[in-house]
Amino acid sequence: MSIWKKEEYNTNTLNKNIEVNTLIIGGGLTGLLTAYFLNDTSSCVVEARTIGTGVTKNTTAKITYLQSDIYNKIKKLTNKENAKLYLNSQIESVKDLKNLIEKEGINCDLKETPSYIFTSKKSKINKLKEEIYFLKKNGIKVSKSPLPIKYKNYSSYKVNDTYTFNPLKFITSLYEVLNTKNIKVYENTKVLNVKKENDIYICTTDNFTLKAKNIVYTNNYPSFVFPLLMPLRTSIEKSHIIVSLASKYKNFSCINIEKPTYSCRFYKENNKIYQISLGSSHNIAFKQNDNKCFDKVIREFKLNRCNIVDKYSNTDIITSDYMPLIGKIKNNMYISTGYNTWGMTNSILGAKIITDLIKNKQSEYSKLFNPKRINKSNIIKFPYYIFTGLYSYITSKIIKNKSWYKKNIKVHRTLGTDISVYIDEQGIEHKVKNKCPHLGCGLIFNEAEKCWDCPCHSSRFDIDGNCIKGPSNNNIKIK
Ligand code: FES
Repeated sequence: MSIWKKEEYNTNTLNKNIEVNTLIIGGGLTGLLTAYFLNDTSSCVVEARTIGTGVTKNTTAKITYLQSDIYNKIKKLTNKENAKLYLNSQIESVKDLKNLIEKEGINCDLKETPSYIFTSKKSKINKLKEEIYFLKKNGIKVSKSPLPIKYKNYSSYKVNDTYTFNPLKFITSLYEVLNTKNIKVYENTKVLNVKKENDIYICTTDNFTLKAKNIVYTNNYPSFVFPLLMPLRTSIEKSHIIVSLASKYKNFSCINIEKPTYSCRFYKENNKIYQISLGSSHNIAFKQNDNKCFDKVIREFKLNRCNIVDKYSNTDIITSDYMPLIGKIKNNMYISTGYNTWGMTNSILGAKIITDLIKNKQSEYSKLFNPKRINKSNIIKFPYYIFTGLYSYITSKIIKNKSWYKKNIKVHRTLGTDISVYIDEQGIEHKVKNKCPHLGCGLIFNEAEKCWDCPCHSSRFDIDGNCIKGPSNNNIKIK
C-alpha cells in the first residue's frame, strides 16, 4: 500500500462508442497533464484502472532537477550540450509544475524542499565532485552541506528551488480541473486493441470503440513491441519503499550517486510525520527476494520496525542515455515514457512536448528526447539489453521454485502449462498460469506484496491472476 491515498472524486467510465481528436492512453500524471495542456474538449484520457494508480502512486514525489549523477552520465554517453539541455528541461519543468499548481489553486501539499546529493563511498567522492562541477558551470547554486539525517556519507551537497508534494492529491485536483473544462477522463476503461483505418485509429475496449485522429501513450510501458523496440533500448529498475512514522519533520530530500540507490524525504499529514525511504534498487532481470530488499532499506536508514506503516515496491524504466522517450512513434501516434526515476519533472515535460507536436508547434526538446533516437548509448548498451533479456527469460523459465519461496508457493507443470499455486493464510489455493501474456516470461511471486511479478518488463498480477500493471494487457487466470 502506498503512502499516497486516493481522494474522493466522481468517477467516469466509458459507456458508449466515441470519436475524439486525441485519445490519451494512461491516466497517470503525464496523461492528465497532456489533456490539460491540449485543452481540447474533443480529447479524452482512458485509464485501465483508476487515475494515478500506476507508477504515480508509488513515487516518492520529489520535484527536483538534482537527479543523482545524471548529468555526467548523459555527458559521457552523448555529449555536454545534451546534458546541459536536459538540465534546462528539468529546471523549466520544476518551475512549470509549481506555476501550474499555483495557477489552478491545487491543494497538494506543495512545499519548497532543498535537495541533496551525497556519496557513501570514498571511491565516489570524485564522481560527486564532477557532478557538482557540471552544475556550477551551468549556473546552478550548489553548496556543500551536511545531510540533515544520520546516514553514512563522505560528502553531500545541496540545491534550493526544488519541491515535494502529494502526487495523488495533485492528480485528483487536476482531474477536477479537467472536469470543469469538460475534458473527459474515463476510468476502468482498458484499450485492448488499436488498428488504423483511413488515417483514423480504431481502439477497442471490452464493450466499446473509440475512434481518434491522434493517439498518445502515457501508460508507462506500452504493450506493443514495434516500432519502438522498448526491450532493446531500456531496462527496468525496481526499488523498495518503506514509510515509517518519525518524531521530527525534516524539510529536505536526498539521494546518493552510487548504486544501489538510496533516497529519502519526509511528509506531514494529519499531525503525523512520515519518513519515506527508498532503496535496494536493482535491474529486475537480476531477481531479488523482495522481503530481503525491504530489510536492507530498514537497516540502511536505521528505521525502527515498530514505526513502519507501509512498504511497497516500484519499477522505473531506465533508458540507454538516461533521458526520457518523448515524441512521435509514427503518424499521429506519440509516446511519453522512460523517465529514469524522475517522473515528476519528466511527466510535465512530456505533456508539453507532445502538446506542441500535436499542435504543430516547435519544441526545442523534441529532437533530444525523440523516442526513436539512436546514439552511442544504444550501441554501447545493446549487448547488455540482449543479455539481460535472455537471462531474465531463461532463468524465469528454469528456476521455478525459488529457494526463497516459503512452503505456501508452488510452481509446477500440468498438461504442458506452468501452473503456480499460492496458498493464503486461510489455506485457500490461488492458481494462476505462470506465463506472462506480454512476451511469455515466467513469473516470480512477490511474498512481501502478495502478487506475481514479471522479471522481464514488470507486469504485475494479483494472486487470482488479474493484471494490475502492464505492459501486459491480459490476465493469467485459469479458466
Ligand atoms: Fe514483458 Fe512479462 S514478458 S512484462
